[in-house]
Amino acid sequence: VAKAGLIGGGVIGAGWAARFLLNGWDDPDPEAPRKLAEVLENARASLPALSDLPLPAEGRLRFAASIAEAAAGADWVQESVPERLELKHRVIAEVQAANPLVPIGSSTSGFRPSQLQEGAAEPSRILVAHPFNPVYLLPLVELVPSPATAQQVLDAARLTVEGLGMHPLHVRKEIDAFIADRLLETVWREALWLVKDGVASTEDIDEAIRMGFGLRWAQMGLFETYRIAGGEGGMAHFIAQFGPCLHWPWSRLTDVPELDETLVETIAAQSDAQAAGRSIRELERIRDGNLVGILRALKDRDWGAGTVLNAHDDRRRQAVLDTVPDPAEALVLAHLRVLPSWIDYNGHMTESRYLFAASETTDAFLRLIGADLAYVAGGHSYYTAETHILHRGEARLGEALTGSVQILMADEKRLHLFVRIERGPEPVATLEQMLLHVDTKAGRTVPAPPAILDRLMPLAAAHANLPRPEGAGRRVGERPA
Ligand SMILES: NC(=O)c1ccc[n+]([C@@H]2O[C@H](COP(=O)([O-])OP(=O)(O)OC[C@H]3O[C@@H](n4cnc5c(N)ncnc54)[C@H](O)[C@@H]3O)[C@@H](O)[C@H]2O)c1
Repeated sequence: VAKAGLIGGGVIGAGWAARFLLNGWDDPDPEAPRKLAEVLENARASLPALSDLPLPAEGRLRFAASIAEAAAGADWVQESVPERLELKHRVIAEVQAANPLVPIGSSTSGFRPSQLQEGAAEPSRILVAHPFNPVYLLPLVELVPSPATAQQVLDAARLTVEGLGMHPLHVRKEIDAFIADRLLETVWREALWLVKDGVASTEDIDEAIRMGFGLRWAQMGLFETYRIAGGEGGMAHFIAQFGPCLHWPWSRLTDVPELDETLVETIAAQSDAQAAGRSIRELERIRDGNLVGILRALKDRDWGAGTVLNAHDDRRRQAVLDTVPDPAEALVLAHLRVLPSWIDYNGHMTESRYLFAASETTDAFLRLIGADLAYVAGGHSYYTAETHILHRGEARLGEALTGSVQILMADEKRLHLFVRIERGPEPVATLEQMLLHVDTKAGRTVPAPPAILDRLMPLAAAHANLPRPEGAGRRVGERPA
């Protein structure tokens, strides 16, 4: 078991503690038990969700009474005390007095490593390891060595950071505020001016980011995004087209260097290498799949751009509900499109999506009979007790599918449904389901109220006249008739 000495238990120190502990490191920390307990609780509820494997057994947390005690025997020290150089110098001196050779990563957002190394007993052991809040979820750590930092300390830092499931970004030259905060500072500065000049409110600025380019940045950053914006001409065309106009507003104010030909060539060449032979069309498809994934995650959380998408669905759903389907037929209730994230390694719709398609269909059916989200919020719902899926075809990327419901049987508590997932007239899958009406608080089945039964029973009576679907009541493994 490795031991991390974490100095400072504020926003960042507590985030580091969560990251180390949940990855199995032991962690003695001199301060801030309350903050740490709260941050750890959030981290335990979120970090494990990022992994498809169980995390290692959680490390042990000990609170040390002094910096010397925290540093003694540690394999790594992460310094996260307030952003004051003289304080950081004092902490580093105490750490090195207790454990001279331990690598020390500083969380500093702005000091250069050579500033941190001033007056240190062992400058070679010190580098910047700059994380991002929340440390337990965001992968980025900027590793900034100075010329005095030992290569083996940088290597150890890389291994440590990767061992915590994070992405080490080696910053090649030491500069104030490194890479990410330099970028953030320009956005922050412009945002403050926009508020000051009365152009935008704080909320307007946040919407401008999270409804638009923030979504692109999350998956392709800046250069790859603009490479695509250059169309088939790629990055070189993008710079030729937009470089000069991006240059104008600033050239009046400050002495911005001319965007010379060599720089344009360097950027275009680096962008080509980054694209690794992928065409603009391929990059667009990758981008689109990523954006759909991100937007759907936000939709599930009903947050940011996801709220816009949900509101749009709600309006359209109302319009769909207003067109009452013919009760004497199986009810076509869901219209689905096979999305990139639904496709498995065979290029077909992946197994779990058939159940998803069916649950979209049965959800629509439940809304039709009045068991909507408001009904669920009131403490009653239908739970699925059993499902039998029969695969009858393959769905592929981009295909339009419908989901329809035929009621096989309904009574006060039970709802026996037959769901068909079809591509045009062709069957793709059928799902036979038994749903039970439940009191969600009591956790047991109860009869549905008249408000539901009054809508359900006439449909069930009409469907009793439909032919029994092929495959209904089938056992797994039974030979087709
Ligand atoms: N807040 C951020 O988003 C962020 C992001 C990246 C890096 N950082 C950097 O992380 C460092 C810490 O920032 P923070 O936001 O966590 O600050 P914070 O004020 O939340 O936490 C500072 C912690 O250091 C402790 N502390 C103060 N004096 C100390 C001493 N003499 N010995 C030991 N511990 C001491 C405090 O009790 C507190 O627990 C700074 O260098 C900052 O630039 C912050």
